[in-house]
Amino acid sequence: MKILVGITGASGSPYALSFLKLIKRLGHESEVIISRAAEKVLPLETGLSAERLQNFTSRLYREEDIAAPPASGSAGYQAMVVIPCTMGTLAAIATGLAKNLITRAADVMLKERRPLILVVRETPLNQIHLKNMLAAAEAGAIIYPAMPAFYHRPQTLEEVVDFFAARVADFLGLEVENLKRWRGLK
Ligand SMILES: Cc1cc2nc3c(=O)[nH]c(=O)nc-3n(C[C@H](O)[C@H](O)[C@H](O)COP(=O)(O)O)c2cc1C
Repeated sequence: MKILVGITGASGSPYALSFLKLIKRLGHESEVIISRAAEKVLPLETGLSAERLQNFTSRLYREEDIAAPPASGSAGYQAMVVIPCTMGTLAAIATGLAKNLITRAADVMLKERRPLILVVRETPLNQIHLKNMLAAAEAGAIIYPAMPAFYHRPQTLEEVVDFFAARVADFLGLEVENLKRWRGLK
């Protein structure tokens, strides 16, 4: 699978890193578009510069690379995941404001009827956020909030992050080895 990954400037960039590493380990391909804001948040939260993402993905685009392949439906990505997704990028996607490469690529995924997953992150949510989520969902996006689970009893923060990223990959239909599935209470 060739997956397009948008990284925006919401808290939660460790999820993006974990997701990219998983996609690579599973033998799939990713390409990344990073927003200007994410270029600031990523080093803050992970200690990595945007350039270092090149170790985990085939291609790295900036949000202003508006003529890059993700801007066209003919580029052939099977799915797009915006992880994490800010309320600003959500708003742009929900209203069709395709002003940078991330929001244009998301717009393309919706018009091509391909999966678009938005890992939204904000708290608390105002009415505008909630309305934009509904509008994006009605247009075909999947709202996949960055809400970690604890029922698998994670022992480290890394396990919390990795489990969430693995659930996103599982949702896309990728075969994730050792995913701890709920089997009911013993
Ligand atoms: C440390 C940090 C954390 C942030 N966390 C969030 C967040 O969780 N959700 C959000 O919607 N915006 C968050 N923001 C604000 C966005 O980065 C800001 O609105 C930015 O303009 C979004 O641009 P983008 O959507 O192009 O990445 C955060 C900003 C900083 C500096």
